[in-house]
Amino acid sequence: KKVIFSGVQPSGDLTLGNYLGAIKNWVKLQDEYECYYCVVNLHSITVPQEPKDLRRRTLEVIALYMAAGIDPEKSTIFIQSHVPQHVELSWVLNTMTYLGELNRMTQFKDKIQKNEKNLNAGLFTYPVLMAADILLYQTDLVPVGDDQKQHLELARDLAPRFNNRYSETFKIPEPMISKVGARIMDLQDPTVKMSKSAENENGYILLKDDPDTIRRKIKRSVTDSLNRVNYSDEQPGIKNLLTIYSKITGEKIEAIEAKYKDKGYKEFKADTAEVIIEGLRPIREKYLQYMNDKKYLEKVYKDGADKAEKTARKTLRKVYKKTGFIPR
Ligand code: TYM
Repeated sequence: KKVIFSGVQPSGDLTLGNYLGAIKNWVKLQDEYECYYCVVNLHSITVPQEPKDLRRRTLEVIALYMAAGIDPEKSTIFIQSHVPQHVELSWVLNTMTYLGELNRMTQFKDKIQKNEKNLNAGLFTYPVLMAADILLYQTDLVPVGDDQKQHLELARDLAPRFNNRYSETFKIPEPMISKVGARIMDLQDPTVKMSKSAENENGYILLKDDPDTIRRKIKRSVTDSLNRVNYSDEQPGIKNLLTIYSKITGEKIEAIEAKYKDKGYKEFKADTAEVIIEGLRPIREKYLQYMNDKKYLEKVYKDGADKAEKTARKTLRKVYKKTGFIPR
């Protein structure tokens, strides 16, 4: 079976972007692939986190994975810090990564440009830890949103670099980025991606938003004055709403355009809000059930870590041996 690896940071409430760009796609991969779905808490501390919030959010992400349809009987759900090999491999890979490669990372460059106060070394080497996550499991495919593509390139460069210096060790992973929904945009500024770090909270929809909040945010979303429901770059707001609508319902964009051909934005927006509400409802309900069963969550992440570590250990052992480290 081919191997899938992906992860989400427990660094804030998850948005509709996280769900449609990543998690929703993971569900259907479970039968065909061997899937590892990780909560990347080591990555999340590159931005200061309140410890008790970090603990809570880590569990929330696990509950959400399952609420979205990730089945722990089929997929390995685990917490990154439970498998120490991630950090160990990332050190080895750090010594093989050029400063120039990390300097080119747009997410890091953005942070410098925005003059963020906490520019720590972890933020800089963040993509190396991500490469370690992926390479440890001999991953074939990495289902992510468009914004992770550049980070993934580093993993694709490091794998052959190690293989060439020592000998065949790592598989070279491929990105898996869906055509529709790989980049859900901000509702207030549809030229930037939807993110929970946006200043205006009307720009994003959280998976935990209640129906009235969702209705309000969609109603206020920025569109244009052309007044036609059309999928085009000229109309980034409408294009984004069409993407969301299509990704949730599975209806083709053209079919939705046809449905709203003679209708105004008001009706389209109202329907889009209902589509989102109905799409998220079962997830919200199951999420609350899982959050009320901490024992079960604990079992899931413990079993997951046991399974993940077995594979991770195997890869790391090879890496250490080839590097010239004497086994204990
Ligand atoms: P994170 O936690 O920022 O986001 C999790 C996933 O959600 C996707 N995503 C979006 N997709 C579409 N539209 C959006 N507006 C949007 N916002 C977020 C992201 O592309 C991602 O797939 N570095 C990663 C976490 C990570 C990882 C990994 C992923 C660490 N190690 C190994 C894959 C493999 C991140 O920060 O994702």
